Amino acid sequence: MTKLVAPSILSGDFADMAKSCLDAKAWGADILHLDVMDGVFVPNITFGMPMVKALKTRNILPLDVHLMITKPEKYVGQFCDCGADIVTFHPDASDDVAGALKIIKDKGVKCGLVLNPDKPLELVRPYLDDIDVLLIMSVYAGFGGQKFIPESLNKLKQAKKLIEGKNVLLEVDGGVDETNAKDILACGVDIMVAGSAVYKSENPSKTIKILRGEI
Ligand code: DX5
Ligand code: ZN
Repeated sequence: MTKLVAPSILSGDFADMAKSCLDAKAWGADILHLDVMDGVFVPNITFGMPMVKALKTRNILPLDVHLMITKPEKYVGQFCDCGADIVTFHPDASDDVAGALKIIKDKGVKCGLVLNPDKPLELVRPYLDDIDVLLIMSVYAGFGGQKFIPESLNKLKQAKKLIEGKNVLLEVDGGVDETNAKDILACGVDIMVAGSAVYKSENPSKTIKILRGEI
């Protein structure tokens, strides 16, 4: 499968978000990654449904909504209604993982689970037939611009094995940049999320090609 690059708009310009998203598309991005943080599950607050809804009206690229919120089962339906194309959440934040996944599926939206670096793959094993995406965090969720945790490469390889034969895409998020893209792609990752590496790049088009393994 062709690798997909999903810039995280967390590193974009919040005063001019539509432009940041249009820029990402012009640079060759495939998906927009939207980091929703509630200040409870993670010690940071970003944006919520209104941002998803607003960006949807611009119809720029598919929207990959990464929920870092407690009790995601309460809100996943609303994020779908706002126009998310993919909704992922952390299973350890939820009291009803299966229920939340079902709400997303029933809305016709792709669903996925996210694991922080200290959360074992075992947490997602019961849901492998129900998810479209498995997102492995290569930093602790909460902030952009952190350094890639090298042990994540092993976890990505194990995750790839775990989803073998399943209809699940492997996504990585956190500290992904030009220096580690090759090693990450070698683990069989399908979707590369990158915030600062894209938005702070002197040549974002080139960076996206590198992240996709084209150069
Ligand atoms: C971290 C977010 C990431 C972050 C990635 O909690 O989930 O999506 O924005 O940013 P970089 O690529 O700068 O690590
Ligand atoms: Zn993210």
